[in-house]
Amino acid sequence: MNYFVTGCAGFIGSHLVDRLLFQGHYVVGFDNLTTGFLDFLQIAKQFSCFKFIKGDCLDKKTLLASIPENCDGIFHFAANADVKDGIKHTERDLQQNTMASFNVLEAMRIKRIKKIIFPSTGSVYGEADIIPTPEDAPFPIQTSLYGASKVAAEGLIQAYSEAFGIQAYIFRFVSILGERYTHGHVFDFYRKLKNNPKQLNVLGDGSQSKSYLYVQDCMDAIFLALNSANKKVNIFNLGTNDYCQVKDSVDWISTELGVTPELNYSGGKRGWVGDNPFIFLDCKRICRLGWQPKFTIQQSIIKTLNFLRENTWLMEAKV
Ligand SMILES: NC(=O)c1ccc[n+]([C@@H]2O[C@H](COP(=O)([O-])OP(=O)(O)OC[C@H]3O[C@@H](n4cnc5c(N)ncnc54)[C@H](O)[C@@H]3O)[C@@H](O)[C@H]2O)c1
Repeated sequence: MNYFVTGCAGFIGSHLVDRLLFQGHYVVGFDNLTTGFLDFLQIAKQFSCFKFIKGDCLDKKTLLASIPENCDGIFHFAANADVKDGIKHTERDLQQNTMASFNVLEAMRIKRIKKIIFPSTGSVYGEADIIPTPEDAPFPIQTSLYGASKVAAEGLIQAYSEAFGIQAYIFRFVSILGERYTHGHVFDFYRKLKNNPKQLNVLGDGSQSKSYLYVQDCMDAIFLALNSANKKVNIFNLGTNDYCQVKDSVDWISTELGVTPELNYSGGKRGWVGDNPFIFLDCKRICRLGWQPKFTIQQSIIKTLNFLRENTWLMEAKV
C-alpha cells in the first residue's frame, strides 16, 4: 500500500514511518521540520520505498502536489503538539492543528483518498467529570486552545467522512513517552536537572495526575485498530490503565539520575492555564480488540530518560 505521513520527522510520526516501512508499504513523509528532526528518519532513509518531502501543511499547493496519486491513506501527524504555550501564541493551534487538518482533508477530497488516521488527545475531554473518561463522555468544555483545535479537527474529519466517503481513525492519546521524545515533562525535568542537579522547579503542586503510554505500545494499538475496526469513523482512547502524579515522576527521574534536588513547586492544582489536573482515559474499547500495553508508566519514563541521556544533542537542538 501507499501511505502519506505528515509530521514524519516528529517523535511519533517517525516511529509510524518505521512501522509502515517494516510492514512493506511505500511511504511519502512530509514535514516542515519545525519540531521534527531528519535524524529521526535515519532508519527510514535506508528504505528505497521511502521518500521525504520538506513542506508545510499550510502550503496547500505543495501539500497537494506532494501526495502521490495512488495514495491509500494519510496519517496526519503534523501538528503543534505543545499544549502549555497555547495562550502565548493564540493563533498557533488553530493554524497548525485545525487549518492544517482542513488542508489535508481538502487534498484528500481532491485526490479521492479514502482513509485518514489522526492523532487527537485526551485534552479534548477538558476537565472531565467521568474518570476514567470513555470515548462517549458527555461533550466536554474545552480548557486549552490545543484541545479546542483538536476537537475542531476531529469535527472536520467526521464531516468530511460523511460527505466524501472517507474512513477515519481518530486516536485520543494520553501523553506518549519513549525514544525520540522531544517535548513534555520528562524532557523539561531532565534538562533542568542536567543544568542544576541540586534544585528542580516544578509547575503546580505536584499532585497533577496523568496517564502516559509508551510509543511502541501506541503503535501496536494503532495498527491493531486499523486491522480490526471498520466503522466509517472509529474513535479510540489510547492510554495505560494507570496514572501517576507529577511528584512520582520527579521521584523516579531523580532516583534514576542519582540526584536529590530541592523541589520548588509553583503551587496550584494546575501546571499552567488549561492544564488538566487529572487525565486518565478509559481504554476498554481498544483493549476489547485484544490490545494491552506492555510497559508501565514508570518503565516508559525510564526508557525516555535513557533515550535523552544518550541523545544530549537534543538539549542543544531544542532551545
Ligand atoms: N506526544 C504526545 O504526548 C501526544 C499526545 C497526544 C496527541 N499527540 C499528537 O500526535 C501528533 C504527533 O505529536 P508528536 O509528539 O510526535 O509531536 P512532534 O512535534 O514531535 O511532531 C510533529 C511533527 O510535525 C511537523 N510539523 C508541525 N507543523 C507542521 C506543518 N504545518 N507542516 C508540516 N509539518 C509540520 C513537525 O516538524 C514535527 O516533525 C500531533 O498531532 C500531536 O498533537 C501527541
